[in-house]
Amino acid sequence: MPEFDFESLKSRYSRFLSKRDCSKTLIKFWDAPQGDVIEMAGGMPNAGFFPVDSIDVHVCDKPFGQRSEDGLVAHMDRNEPSDMPLSTSLQYTNTEGMEPLLKFARNLTQKIHPPAYDGWDACLVMGSSDGLYKVFEVLCDEDSTVMMEEFTFTPVISSVKIQGGHVVPVKMQLSADPKMQGIDVGLMEEMLDNWHVGPYKHLNKPKALYTVATGQNPTGMTLSAEKRKQIYRLAQKHDFLIVEDDPYGYLFFPPYDAENPLKNAYWEQDSSLTPQKYIDEFLVKSFVTIDTDARVIRLETFSKMFAPGLRLSFVVANKFFTERVVNIGEVSTRAPSGVSQAVVYTVIRELGKRHAAEYENPIDAMFAGWVEWLMKVAGTYTQRRNIAFKSLYETESYKQGLFKVMEPSAGMFIDLKPVWSQEDLAKADHFDHIMEEMDQLNACLIKSGVQVVLGYRMAVDREASKDTCDFIRVTIAYAKDDEQIVEACHRIGAGFSQFFAQRQK
Ligand SMILES: Cc1ncc(COP(=O)(O)O)c(C=O)c1O
Repeated sequence: MPEFDFESLKSRYSRFLSKRDCSKTLIKFWDAPQGDVIEMAGGMPNAGFFPVDSIDVHVCDKPFGQRSEDGLVAHMDRNEPSDMPLSTSLQYTNTEGMEPLLKFARNLTQKIHPPAYDGWDACLVMGSSDGLYKVFEVLCDEDSTVMMEEFTFTPVISSVKIQGGHVVPVKMQLSADPKMQGIDVGLMEEMLDNWHVGPYKHLNKPKALYTVATGQNPTGMTLSAEKRKQIYRLAQKHDFLIVEDDPYGYLFFPPYDAENPLKNAYWEQDSSLTPQKYIDEFLVKSFVTIDTDARVIRLETFSKMFAPGLRLSFVVANKFFTERVVNIGEVSTRAPSGVSQAVVYTVIRELGKRHAAEYENPIDAMFAGWVEWLMKVAGTYTQRRNIAFKSLYETESYKQGLFKVMEPSAGMFIDLKPVWSQEDLAKADHFDHIMEEMDQLNACLIKSGVQVVLGYRMAVDREASKDTCDFIRVTIAYAKDDEQIVEACHRIGAGFSQFFAQRQK
């Protein structure tokens, strides 16, 4: 396995830093206490000034469950948990995050997505949005170019543009075939090989690819392992970094069985799905697992699998890049909230107690407890996916062939496409008016009582994606229960019927 020390990473990757980041110097006015001295340097209030004695978090047994039957309570006070008591977590803490939680994040990464080199690290940030903002501040200047999937989580476009950088869309294959899904690698290669004569020749060659490689937002597509290898080889050939944003990776959907629509591998009684099988066979391995050059920056968040209000996530990258990200935190956010770190750490530690007898090392028990929770969340999302597919496929408008379902392979989103008539498709200018058409569909859906996102509003370049942006994005995450999903799907069916009826007039 390749091994990189800090200095070799610095000499290899300094050229990727933005001018602004290179010119940044941190001015430190105090040193960590040395030896047996009375700390009178840092402007830190003694923990006795904190108006909190203790915090008890009652842990749920499963999503939508009540307090756990075994009464798990994550307890925090001035001395507990001993490795991260409130007197520490409510204090100013290390900008990169508190060591016990960082250790957990590194361990999780090593066990599920082991990087293919030595010399990587993790740092905590305040959600992947904060992480992405910081990453692109580290990387982007006015002359930087970043590639992205043609449909994407649009705030990231702003994270690049706010630095003056440019974004370029890469075409996607919106396919039900798991081997084909996601970035069209052939077109990407063609674009990169012919950059200086292509449509973006006025821009510099890309410094990075930003990708939501698993359960993509908004399309639900997942890049296969083979495509990841091909893209990595392109990154080596054309020397760009890969910024992998992975909020949805744990929400893997087993294939939908139309014969048995409510079948859910996560919930099967014989329990053939072990945590190891979930990790090995369900979860698609991150780009970091093939990263022999240390050129991948991975972002993982607690937002979707724990709670977004925590504003807590972590970045995995080579040590040189994690230090640059932390340095931005030093002058902006400082450490992510200590309360959030404490809640996440103690709750996962508590979940781990169920496995304490199986493992000598508490961190292994924490890992087992967390994976068990991830599988429960993924199982609940799979149930919702099943309910939504079944309900959508039962609508009259689906049966009449008015819309198609782009079946996602992971995540929170299901995309639906209107099926245009042959007559529509024969019109040379059909897709020139696609946004107006989609706005009308949206109006019908709202009238039917359902709010969705229009695909074209998540396009990097609406004109470049006009032939494929005719979809709506529906999330199965926010509904309060299965009944509400069923009702929403009926309304969606009614909205499509109304749209096509109206067009015929
Ligand atoms: C692709 C993607 N990245 C990042 C985020 C935001 O994550 P966080 O809550 O960690 O900032 C989202 C949330 O919707 C997302 O879809």
